[in-house]
Amino acid sequence: ADGARVPALVIGTGYGGAVAALRLAEAGVDVHMLEMGMAWDVPGPDGKVFCNTREPDHRSYWLRTRTKAPVNYFIGLPLDRDIPRYTGILDAEEFGGITVYQGRGVGGGSLVNGGMAVTPRREDFGAVLPSVNPGEMYDVYYPRANAALGVGTVDPDWFESAACYQYTRVGRRHARRSGLPFVFVPDVYDWEYMEREAAGTATKSALAGEILYGNNHGKKSLQQTYLARARATGRVTVSALHRVASVAPASGGRYTVVVEQLDTGGGVTAVKSVTADRVFFAAGSVGTSKLLVKLKATGVLPLLNDEVGRDWGENGNVMCGRANHLWDPTGALQSAIPCGGIDNRASGRAFAEVAPLPTGIETFASFYLSITGNPHRARFSWNPVAGRVELDWQTAWKQPSIDMARSIFDRINAKEGTVYRSDLFGAYKIWGDHLTYHPLGGAVLNRATDGHGRLTAYPGLYVIDGALIPGNTTVNPFVTITALAERNIEKIIATDL
Ligand code: FDA
Repeated sequence: ADGARVPALVIGTGYGGAVAALRLAEAGVDVHMLEMGMAWDVPGPDGKVFCNTREPDHRSYWLRTRTKAPVNYFIGLPLDRDIPRYTGILDAEEFGGITVYQGRGVGGGSLVNGGMAVTPRREDFGAVLPSVNPGEMYDVYYPRANAALGVGTVDPDWFESAACYQYTRVGRRHARRSGLPFVFVPDVYDWEYMEREAAGTATKSALAGEILYGNNHGKKSLQQTYLARARATGRVTVSALHRVASVAPASGGRYTVVVEQLDTGGGVTAVKSVTADRVFFAAGSVGTSKLLVKLKATGVLPLLNDEVGRDWGENGNVMCGRANHLWDPTGALQSAIPCGGIDNRASGRAFAEVAPLPTGIETFASFYLSITGNPHRARFSWNPVAGRVELDWQTAWKQPSIDMARSIFDRINAKEGTVYRSDLFGAYKIWGDHLTYHPLGGAVLNRATDGHGRLTAYPGLYVIDGALIPGNTTVNPFVTITALAERNIEKIIATDL
């Protein structure tokens, strides 16, 4: 309520925020979470909470009047359609040179993502988080995060015969024929549930094309894991459709947090003010960076250091499709949850998920999301004339990602005698290089913050999300975001409370 005072306020309900809330509550601290997106706990008119990728409606996108599907063409035909403007679940946030996809709602990115839960190889960790002791991460915090998130792997025997993973088996065969290692990719989807979907004994979610706009069944999002445990403590409350606009120093070492309450059309219906002893920025790489850069530049938090806004990267994301021969169908039924990848990290700095095209028809296409070692880093800055935070990412900066991904797919195409699909991202466009699903950085650990996420110029302010990680995790990021949050909150609880 307006004028309230809380011991700990968490901005955002994604991975970093959910870890902070649970561990603070377990330590006896009352926590209030503010989330700009919706609660996603009430069914819509069709009886479902979430809509399907094949029939996107008002629930699909955050305040857009037209969908902006990541794969937006098929056989050169545009797939996007008009939708009513609504506080939907997926934000396709457009900056100058890149569209950044993010989840909006209680659960953050866990609501929309593919659930791929990958721990980086230990030998790569020094490049991911150079100031963090790998021993404690691999012995304590990665295992803790994987257990709490409910990470599991497809049953290899079931995989071999499942119709919905023909696309992955084709991807494996092509990788192996080119001498590239295939690996199973762990996921937080309930694999036993998926087996029941395939057997026809459970309501279909992954096997009905649900992904991107939410899964009505099967996927263990943060709503089922960390946030459920946090609420069960009785110490955590959550306000959805509440967007933080400002965090300013107040008397007694506390902070005044200004919050805008939104309606489902995106309008501000009330502006509230809350006083907090401690504030945890967990609005995601982009959300946290935008807040901190604006608050520093406008003189609200002028002592934030000059590292704020820097070292932002897109985890080297790039997508592509390959056209298969007619004797290599990938299947009309494709599980929306990937379960395998091609690992060329060692010689090509590329890790490619064998991704579905869950269109419901045979496409004769193999589709991939590659995570590459793109070295480019961008910076957020405040534009006082436009009154907004901008990002200086350049479209051409994806070229290293494309080159790294080609270390896999040029090789496979040469071996198989196949070509790239050029109809998935617009006419004659091979590479999906206009976007990222994996924004990272902007308030990097040990640079913008101290070694545990403290914004030291302002005691009681912390960063605890993907903004801490300098642009790349070599694999899908949320396990690392979760494990780092576990490490940092343990230290903060032990020394600051
Ligand atoms: P996250 O983005 O999860 O949470 C931030 C929350 O803060 C959001 O709910 C947001 O609405 C809220 N917020 C922002 N600004 C606010 C403000 N001013 N006031 C109040 N609330 C505010 N990763 C992976 O490891 N495996 C995968 O398979 C995938 N797949 C994937 C698919 C798609 C489509 C997307 C968009 C993303 C993925 N990801 C992924 C990425 C993964 O989801 C992402 O890295 C994490 O969700 C980031 O976690 P954070 O805690 O940093 O923020």
